[in-house]
Amino acid sequence: MNEAMLKYVDRIQAGLEALVPQMEERVPQLGEMPALLAKSMRYSLLAGGKRVRPSMLIGAVEMLDGPMDQAVLPACALEMIHTYSLIHDDLPGMDNDSMRRGRPTSHMVFGEGQAILAGDGLLSFAFECMLKNALHYPARALQHLRAMDEIARGAGVSGMVGGQCMDLYAEHNEDWSEELLTYIQHNKTAALFIAALRAGARLSDADEASLQALTEYGTLFGRLFQVVDDILDVQGNADEMGKSVGKDAQSGKLTAVTRYGLEGARKEAERLTEQAMDTLRPFGGDAGFFVTLLKDMSHRVR
Ligand code: IPE
Ligand code: IPE
Ligand code: MG
Ligand code: MG
Ligand code: MG
Repeated sequence: MNEAMLKYVDRIQAGLEALVPQMEERVPQLGEMPALLAKSMRYSLLAGGKRVRPSMLIGAVEMLDGPMDQAVLPACALEMIHTYSLIHDDLPGMDNDSMRRGRPTSHMVFGEGQAILAGDGLLSFAFECMLKNALHYPARALQHLRAMDEIARGAGVSGMVGGQCMDLYAEHNEDWSEELLTYIQHNKTAALFIAALRAGARLSDADEASLQALTEYGTLFGRLFQVVDDILDVQGNADEMGKSVGKDAQSGKLTAVTRYGLEGARKEAERLTEQAMDTLRPFGGDAGFFVTLLKDMSHRVR
């Protein structure tokens, strides 16, 4: 992990710890969350993901000279939303996986019903936390609302949820068009990266040109991220990745690899890396963190 990322991850980790505290195991007081829910939420949230999305949010704020302190909470909320998407993605009715972040999946430990609720809890709590944070900075409430708007759209029906819908649809559909594959990559994966970058830009009062450049970077980086994930499903190691591998083809998933083959997917990853690098040009030397992130990502499959 690069140095800037380590610094961001420390702050994110501390933020997440504080937001979802350990609770006493008793019948909760009115207005309190149950200990069981705190436990299942923490189980997946604090299991050590790479924290790429929240780091990107804070990285964008730092690059654009925005208020870093005000970015930590939206970043943590975004990580909660991402974690919810993973818990639900692993459910028997979706990808039916038993390993995640180096641990048995939520539903293996807490049962399917509680895993669904851990996901629901993380999603709604993320917005609860962001709203509370926005109200805490009345003079900058508009910037916080705009950031929340970006996150809500990226996570929602025209973003991640929409992408997951078409990912499942493609399992039972013969028409594997390039258009469908691009839609899936863009929505199930790139949308949360775009949201991270644009939320950071909104908190920093960035101009339209910066928003546009970051949107292009997020789109290409996000698609690259999914292509790399698809390649690692074939050539990766389950222990290193902390999740099951080798299931995409077997489940009939439409991925860069099942559509273009391993070599085709590698070429696609190279092409996306080069294009993503170009989008950072307007930021010059300030984009160091994003250049390194991109290189680290493309090196995962070299
Ligand atoms: C996994 O995301 C889901 C995909 C979009 C491929 P990450 O690879 O960022 O998972 P964590 O957060 O590090 O566990
Ligand atoms: C999941 O894509 C993207 C999400 C929105 C969670 P995958 O299904 O390929 O992610 P992994 O391989 O299970 O992490
Ligand atoms: Mg999936
Ligand atoms: Mg999956
Ligand atoms: Mg995958």
